[in-house]
Amino acid sequence: MGIHLSIRMLSKLLILLLCHLVVANFVDSLQQLSCHAEERSALLQFKESFIIDKSASRSKGAYPKVSSWKPTAGGNSSCCSWDGVECDKMTGHVIGLDLSSSYLYGSFDSNSSLFSLVHLQRLSLSDNDFIYSQIPSSIRNFPSLTHLDLSASFFSGQVPSEVSHLSKLTYLNLRCNILEIETSPDNPQRLLKLQPSDMSSLVQNLTSLETLDLSFINISSIILVSLTNLSFLTQLALKKCDLFGEFPVKIFSLPNLEVLNVRYNQDLIGYLPEFNRSSHVVSLKVGFTSFFGTIPSSIEKLNALQKLDVAQCNFSNSLVPSALGNLRQLTYLDISASRFGGPIPDSLANLTQLTVFRAGTNSLTGPIPSWLGNFTKLVYLQFSFNHLNGSIPASFSNLINLKILCLQSNNLSGVVEFQMFQKQQNLYQLQLSSNNFEFVTGSNIMNAAIPQFTVLALRLCNLKEFPYFLQNQKKLKRLDLADNKISGEVPNWMWNLSKETLVLLDISGNLFSGELPAVIPWVNLLSLRLSNNIFHGRLPIPPPSLLEYGANNNKFTGEISPLLCNMNSLLYLDLSTNNLNGTLPPCLGNFSEGLLLLLLGSNSFYGMMPQPFNNRSSLRMIDVSQNQLQGQLPRSLANCVMLEYLVLSNNQFSDDFPIWLGTLQELKLLAMRHNGFNGVIGQSRTNVDFIKLRILDLSYNNFRGEIPPLFPDIAVNMSTYMQAQVQYVITDIYLTRNVSYSITLAIKGLDLHYSKILEGFAAIDISSNKFEGKIPEFIGNLTELRSLNISNNILTGSIPSSLGKLTNLESLDLSQNKLSGQIPQQLTQLSFLGTFSVSHNNLIGPIPQGTQLTSFNSTSYEGNPGLCGDPLPNKCGNQEAPQQPFSTEEDSDSGSSRTLEYDLIFGLAGVGSGLVVGVVLANVVITRRQEWFLKIVGMVRLMIWKKVE
Ligand SMILES: *[C@@H]1O[C@H](CO)[C@@H](O)[C@H](O)[C@H]1NC(C)=O
Ligand SMILES: *[C@@H]1O[C@H](CO)[C@@H](O)[C@H](O)[C@H]1NC(C)=O
Ligand SMILES: *[C@@H]1O[C@H](CO)[C@@H](O)[C@H](O)[C@H]1NC(C)=O
Ligand SMILES: *[C@@H]1O[C@H](CO)[C@@H](O)[C@H](O)[C@H]1NC(C)=O
Ligand SMILES: *[C@@H]1O[C@H](CO)[C@@H](O)[C@H](O)[C@H]1NC(C)=O
Repeated sequence: MGIHLSIRMLSKLLILLLCHLVVANFVDSLQQLSCHAEERSALLQFKESFIIDKSASRSKGAYPKVSSWKPTAGGNSSCCSWDGVECDKMTGHVIGLDLSSSYLYGSFDSNSSLFSLVHLQRLSLSDNDFIYSQIPSSIRNFPSLTHLDLSASFFSGQVPSEVSHLSKLTYLNLRCNILEIETSPDNPQRLLKLQPSDMSSLVQNLTSLETLDLSFINISSIILVSLTNLSFLTQLALKKCDLFGEFPVKIFSLPNLEVLNVRYNQDLIGYLPEFNRSSHVVSLKVGFTSFFGTIPSSIEKLNALQKLDVAQCNFSNSLVPSALGNLRQLTYLDISASRFGGPIPDSLANLTQLTVFRAGTNSLTGPIPSWLGNFTKLVYLQFSFNHLNGSIPASFSNLINLKILCLQSNNLSGVVEFQMFQKQQNLYQLQLSSNNFEFVTGSNIMNAAIPQFTVLALRLCNLKEFPYFLQNQKKLKRLDLADNKISGEVPNWMWNLSKETLVLLDISGNLFSGELPAVIPWVNLLSLRLSNNIFHGRLPIPPPSLLEYGANNNKFTGEISPLLCNMNSLLYLDLSTNNLNGTLPPCLGNFSEGLLLLLLGSNSFYGMMPQPFNNRSSLRMIDVSQNQLQGQLPRSLANCVMLEYLVLSNNQFSDDFPIWLGTLQELKLLAMRHNGFNGVIGQSRTNVDFIKLRILDLSYNNFRGEIPPLFPDIAVNMSTYMQAQVQYVITDIYLTRNVSYSITLAIKGLDLHYSKILEGFAAIDISSNKFEGKIPEFIGNLTELRSLNISNNILTGSIPSSLGKLTNLESLDLSQNKLSGQIPQQLTQLSFLGTFSVSHNNLIGPIPQGTQLTSFNSTSYEGNPGLCGDPLPNKCGNQEAPQQPFSTEEDSDSGSSRTLEYDLIFGLAGVGSGLVVGVVLANVVITRRQEWFLKIVGMVRLMIWKKVE
């Protein structure tokens, strides 16, 4: 996950760079020709059809060229001298029109007067806003067109087939007609489409093309071999076009090729050829495709190469190719996410022209070489998510042009003095999180000399005090000081810091104490993480912009203010494990339609659950466990159609079983233990009820009647974890928060806390109720069950032999009932059983011998006076104990007993760009041929010996 995130972030940056800064221009010469009257009036009409709007152009040099176009035909006012207009010197006809970056705003269609300028040879309208107009098919009126640039101008829809009639085109640029979407920065919405057949005619007809840029057009086609016929091509850019199939390797041999960019065509398969010195390639970008094979060492022959991007492909080189070191002209090198191991080769030491060097998300080892300090042109250096060790070389202080330095998530160590970055006045992004650094801020730094940061990530940097140098930071967007050892109160000046800009503040996992201001001052804040500190006092009210509010594991007191309900953008609210009390404000059910997670467990809330939950609710996870909530459940919970996880345990609810939740198609986990739920659970289930329920905990209630058939007998088996995810974007930063579902189940008298649950996991716990009647046959069909606890009820009859079909069972507890008859031989098929109990029933006869059933302690069987045989002390007398009828391998392997280890792991995990926190993480590794790991609440470790199957 982390890997992908950082790449997405970067791609976002690049999209911005490419789309906003690169706007093609061609020189327009001012000419004093008299122009044709009808052309002048066509131009004026064209001008009048738009409004001038500054926000329509994004390039820095933009200005309204048409402002100089005046209708007054006062003698020498020839339209040929107008800004952006070029006329033919002989005929006076308008042959060139460059209105790129001209603030044009408005729609543009085939009736436009522009199309009467039939002599046009060059047309550039890039970087304007044509508000989703289609590219007019009247473009065919320009048969002499050699140059067409409609990039970055909000054209949408199908690219008309008429473009492929413009057979004189040498330059065609339709790139970047996109909408950037806040929630999905790596994936801008592409506005233009090109039919595969039109792509094909285009390539066939436009044989003079030198530049072809269709980046960000949805083509969704197989890449065309005929591209190799475009023998004049110098620039080919097909970034993010959803091209697939085999990339024609002959394209690399096009004699004039200088620029090739096919990034972000994930299913594009290709390989790099052996290169030779005749190549003119200046820029080669194949990142984020399925290119495979190796990066050949002949790449060193590309002596003109300045930009190389091979990030996140399937290249099989296990080391960074040392041949790259001969590409002395390189200014841009991206080898991130390429599975490279080994050290950063010294052969790269001569790449001193690099401005961008990205090698993150590999398996690089060894130290950061000190020669990097000679790369004084470096602007952007990214080595994050590797295994680099050693310290930051002192030579880094030479990198005075550095703007972005990302070293997070390595094994780097040593003392990092903040002073070392003082020369880097342009440094605005510094990410050092998750290493073994000791970051020392010092207090004698001149404020004037401190760079203004936008991103400062110092998670896990052994900070012991609040960094003093932050005092005058005015532009911070993201400040991550989580998981350090900072104690005491948050300094007062902190609340005045970067007031307009701050969007993320993470100070979780420190030793902060004291009270917080009643209102959080950052007006644009999106994420506030205060978790795992010792703050007390009232819970502060964040601004309405907030998306994520984590305040769990503190000592906040008092009631939840109704003002909290103003946060109507909230996606994630975790207030669990505090000392909050009072009733839950009624708005909680529907104050934010986007709310995904509502976590209020382990407080002292009382009263009823809030209602209503409205039917636009997107809630996926509700946890109100460990409070003193009472009464009935709000029936409107059934409106939460996305709900996957509902934990009501350890409260004082008294209600019937919420059979009406059966309509929730996504519900996977329902935990209601330790409440006053009661009554007979209806048998009126239809086949669509509780269709995805995997975990049901009804223990410690007062349910009566027969065991209800609540479990669907479908076998879902996915190996992902059950988790809810909150994702959002902070300008150029992509954030994800994963919250894993967790649950406590009673197994053999112990509370097992499954803190990370695999999708395939399934469990029923209906222990400690008053269920009666027989164990129903249908349970034998729930073959995914890992844990079944029906102990401490008043069940009668015999143990159904069909339980032997539950071959995934790791835990089976039938104790403290009134079960009778023999233990069925079929239970010997349960070869994964780690805990088992039938104690305190009325079972009789022999315990099946020679199987793992005899490896359990005798307490598993005690309290059944009629049972006999191992491991019980009383032998079976004459009665022959039935022999294990199945595998005999088991005995031959009997020397090796296997440890079943129940291991509790509570932890915090950072995932992705160092920004993401898994809340409680542990593995449930159920590897059949290896040891088993489960989790138990508390720091309990149990060892149980089990024979090998
Ligand atoms: C090629 O262009 C001509 C006009 O120049 C047009 O008539 C023809 O249909 C085009 N061919 C294709 C395959 O689009
Ligand atoms: C760097 O260039 C110098 C001068 O051409 C050369 O002597 C040296 O071997 C090169 N270093 C590496 C590591 O390739
Ligand atoms: C780096 O620069 C230092 C001097 O600043 C020089 O001695 C050293 O050889 C350079 N290293 C490389 C690999 O060019
Ligand atoms: C709620 O908590 C506050 C602050 O700790 C306390 O003063 C108050 O008595 C509590 N109210 C109830 C009803 O427990
Ligand atoms: C168990 O599954 C089998 C096969 O799908 C089916 O025939 C049988 O009716 C099921 N038994 C119960 C009690 O649901």
